[in-house]
Amino acid sequence: MIKLLAIGDVMGRPGRQALVKGLDRAREELNPDFVVMNGENVAGGFGITKKIFEELIGPVGIDCITTGNHWMDKKDIYEFRDHPKIVLPANMSNVDEPTRGLRLLETKGGVRVAVMNLIGKVFMKGDNSSPFDMAERMLDLVPSYCKVRVLDIHAEATSEKQALGQFLAGRVSAVYGTHSHVPTADERIFKEYTGFVTDLGMTGPYDSVIGIDATSAIRRMRTGDKKNFEPAKNDLNFYAMLFEINEQTGACHALHRLRFPIKDS
Ligand SMILES: [Fe+2]
Ligand SMILES: [Fe+2]
Repeated sequence: MIKLLAIGDVMGRPGRQALVKGLDRAREELNPDFVVMNGENVAGGFGITKKIFEELIGPVGIDCITTGNHWMDKKDIYEFRDHPKIVLPANMSNVDEPTRGLRLLETKGGVRVAVMNLIGKVFMKGDNSSPFDMAERMLDLVPSYCKVRVLDIHAEATSEKQALGQFLAGRVSAVYGTHSHVPTADERIFKEYTGFVTDLGMTGPYDSVIGIDATSAIRRMRTGDKKNFEPAKNDLNFYAMLFEINEQTGACHALHRLRFPIKDS
């Protein structure tokens, strides 16, 4: 059995602080074999820089970073988007390539892990192609010996994320949602195989509007003014899901929602 830790959207510098502290605790208490996180908001709330990417896969020890609609907000992503530890939403209109949304990696113990990333169509900007069809195309590329398969579906609509979880039931070990920055309490296992949750929730400042300073978010909604539209700082929390997966069959046997409030915030 391997333990795969999936961490939701990490929001800016406060999110990175919560990530480091929460990960220390998770490693101490749970000893995960593989850690995947969503990094689309990790640089000031919008995108990911090369410097932060290298820090995350280096000293912080993240095994793979998925992304979302903000993947291209920092332009240096074009220098490292082919790196084996970063995944883009394969069906997003400005990606549209199954190999960019799929990475074949392994745990320190040598267990193969396929990480996949898709984006929703419902209530999402852009003319993204079907995540269902792209999921099929990506699964065709995963070798049969790679049983542990995990998918980050980055989407707004709860219905679309659940539909994708049901669609992939029995074929993917873990399907979880990101993007809403709001954790859901509906974790379950489909067909005694696929561990699922509609949204992991954000790792970052919860005294906010989905991670953004509340005063600025309210002002923007009322007037359109984007002034100080940046990550909030207080009430840091680390949110993640721990999936226990049988590496012989790929079946998820248990999943545990983690919420670690970060002190000194
Ligand atoms: Fe996000
Ligand atoms: Fe997003």
